[in-house]
Amino acid sequence: MDIPFFNYQALFKEYEKSFVDIYKDIGHRGAYIMQNDLSDFETKISEYLNIRYAIGVGNATDALQLLLKAGGIGVGDEVIFCSHTMIATASAIKFTGATPVPVEAGPDHLIDPQSIRSAITSRTKAIMPTQLNGRVAEMDEIINIAEENGLQVYEDSAQALGAKYKGKCAGSFGLGGCISFYPAKTLGCFGDGGLVLTNDDEIYNKIILMRDHGRGDDGNISIWGYNSRLDNLQAGILNVFFKDYDKTVERRRQIAKLYHENLNTINNIVLPPSPDENSNHFDIFQNYEIETKKRDELKQHLSNNGIGTLIQWGGKAVHEFRDLGFEQVLPFTEKLMRNSLMLPLNMTVTDEEVTYICDKVKSFYKI
Ligand SMILES: Cc1ncc(COP(=O)(O)O)c(C=O)c1O
Repeated sequence: MDIPFFNYQALFKEYEKSFVDIYKDIGHRGAYIMQNDLSDFETKISEYLNIRYAIGVGNATDALQLLLKAGGIGVGDEVIFCSHTMIATASAIKFTGATPVPVEAGPDHLIDPQSIRSAITSRTKAIMPTQLNGRVAEMDEIINIAEENGLQVYEDSAQALGAKYKGKCAGSFGLGGCISFYPAKTLGCFGDGGLVLTNDDEIYNKIILMRDHGRGDDGNISIWGYNSRLDNLQAGILNVFFKDYDKTVERRRQIAKLYHENLNTINNIVLPPSPDENSNHFDIFQNYEIETKKRDELKQHLSNNGIGTLIQWGGKAVHEFRDLGFEQVLPFTEKLMRNSLMLPLNMTVTDEEVTYICDKVKSFYKI
């Protein structure tokens, strides 16, 4: 078998005719920037997530930076985030002028609430949990910490479109969240794309201007802005994929269940929670990240058997990039980064392939 970690070509093939039609339609209309396809998409997503506003922007990194700026984060402030995340979480904080403060992940691979408490100083202004791998962190506790300490909450929900905690969607817990439409995401476009999510009128009113140079409909400029607009063509492509998004999530949860059923008897690996394990969480399985002390050997064994796997962020937590000035020591997260490996979970992998992958994992552990 030859099972790639992710099959980029297949993204186009599945709905090829619709994509060609959309391209022609938008081309003939000359509708490239901030047109109906974008506003339709924004409306559909905000309804789907039950979040008041969805604003299409260039990518999720921009979305985070726009959110932080709109929320008043800047020089002298500290923002706490989980070090098991993409560098984008930290760079969005850094480029506001604030200091990114990395803290530990917990056993669920998400921000550890106790570690947040320990990192709070008089300069802390906000907490930004990453809703990693399509799962939402224990937000009750995080919101409590924020309220007790007068802190804002922003979510890096780039990987969590439609993931829920106690029935509420990622991106709706604090002042706002983001979504990434990088092609390998659960909803991906054919390039870069992102979304700001917010229920806050003031944040919305600022970001709707800030994504387009600060310009209002009347041409007046009342706020410094960026150029970060989600392309109308990308929005058209996302509209095609989004029609089947419920089915996509269902399929991803099915694959996770299959992995769980096949692998949960192996003592040497730690699996993500199975989809129905805890009714507080509705996970969308952006990734299937397992832990094993023999991570590199297992990766090699799977590769020898034609199976592609991925080590998230190249196996380094954000605070381990010492050239960026981080000095924190976060032992749990560092161990997690050495032990984590992602198995293929996407819309092209078949049940038969998942069973084959599980058989090869078992053969590695001589089961
Ligand atoms: C957790 C997380 N945050 C932020 C980003 C940045 O998203 P984008 O590439 O759309 O800027 C990503 C993208 O992979 C991500 O996984």
